[in-house]
Amino acid sequence: MNRITIQTSTNQYDVSIGKGLRHRVLDFLTKKYSQIFIITDSNVEPLYLDDVSNALKDSYSVNYSVVPAGEGSKSIQIYYDLMTEAIHAGLDRESLIIALGGGMIGDLAGFVAATFMRGIDFIQMPTTILAHDSSVGGKVAINHSEGKNLIGNFFPPVAVIYDIETLHTIPFTEVRSGYAEIVKHSLIHNPSFWNQIKQIELTESLNEAELSDVLLKGIDVKAKIVEQDERESNIRQFLNFGHTLGHALESELGYGVLTHGEAIAIGMLFALQVSEAIYQVKLPYQEIYHWFSKNDYPLQLPNLSIEKLVDRMRKDKKAKSQKVTMVLLKAIGEPTIEQLDDQKLHLWLKDFIQELNHH
Ligand SMILES: NC(=O)c1ccc[n+]([C@@H]2O[C@H](COP(=O)([O-])OP(=O)(O)OC[C@H]3O[C@@H](n4cnc5c(N)ncnc54)[C@H](O)[C@@H]3O)[C@@H](O)[C@H]2O)c1
Ligand SMILES: [Zn+2]
Repeated sequence: MNRITIQTSTNQYDVSIGKGLRHRVLDFLTKKYSQIFIITDSNVEPLYLDDVSNALKDSYSVNYSVVPAGEGSKSIQIYYDLMTEAIHAGLDRESLIIALGGGMIGDLAGFVAATFMRGIDFIQMPTTILAHDSSVGGKVAINHSEGKNLIGNFFPPVAVIYDIETLHTIPFTEVRSGYAEIVKHSLIHNPSFWNQIKQIELTESLNEAELSDVLLKGIDVKAKIVEQDERESNIRQFLNFGHTLGHALESELGYGVLTHGEAIAIGMLFALQVSEAIYQVKLPYQEIYHWFSKNDYPLQLPNLSIEKLVDRMRKDKKAKSQKVTMVLLKAIGEPTIEQLDDQKLHLWLKDFIQELNHH
């Protein structure tokens, strides 16, 4: 088992990564709770709920709630229903919530924990590759019909328990989606991390040793950044590399057409091209394109209005001014933040999409 301690100005928690950790959750509790409430989704429940619940039930009264799988559950209605269930189960300020699932569950259960009786302890038990990213850093949220993650808070867990055995059951599209965030962590961190990733070939059967190594490195990159900037006042924005266009594509195409990771893969390629144009540098664009391509990331886009995309990029919640803000790279491992001129962006984006589609 490996452990990374996240230490911010306001709190500290451990991320534990290893095999079979779901069977020994009890070992990771840092204090005695009045009772435990597990929140999971309908795909994860049949696979892992019993394991987690059995590991606790000799010492604790355990209740649980299962929400439908999918982003649709990050809603005000499901949130309210979970609150009702938590009240009926008799949770109090000394109770613990466990988020057992992917990033959707982490965000939803985390937001329930953040607001139940003004906030009670919660533990993240991520079960997807993508959740190596979402379970660390303390952001929790639900969606509003006007946009994703608009209702939320910064509310760190008391622990993250990452049982990598659970990753064997995720669908292959989710493997691809999660790996895109690992690629992101490598590109904003250093060339040697990227050089390691680029050797990897994604297959249906996961190589556990290889995966756990890159997950650890990815978490470490994120940890170092959130430790310095928990509330996204400056360098935490580096984590948005690939996300300005990525988010715009997700909403313009309609959620679910591309997975989050597939959208940011395209977003990162665009950010690399813009970086090359602005800084007059040569980045390993071809190499990165090739890695996505050989691993079957969808890299062609339907006919999209450039106008609308740029508009969405401007409205990305991270944009501070009327201009589009993007994370760029001066080199692998040297992220920067730039505000971009609309006209140039328009041209670059048009060329980029044309080039993608002619590949
Ligand atoms: N808080 C943050 O910092 C942060 C960062 C990135 C993303 N997010 C959020 O994370 C969410 C996306 O996370 P995700 O990609 O993990 O999606 P997800 O939680 O919806 O999981 C993807 C799919 O895999 C299934 N699944 C999960 N674990 C499984 C397992 N072990 N075996 C089989 N199936 C399993 C789920 O039921 C779902 O159908 C989004 O809501 C996004 O906003 C949050
Ligand atoms: Zn992301």
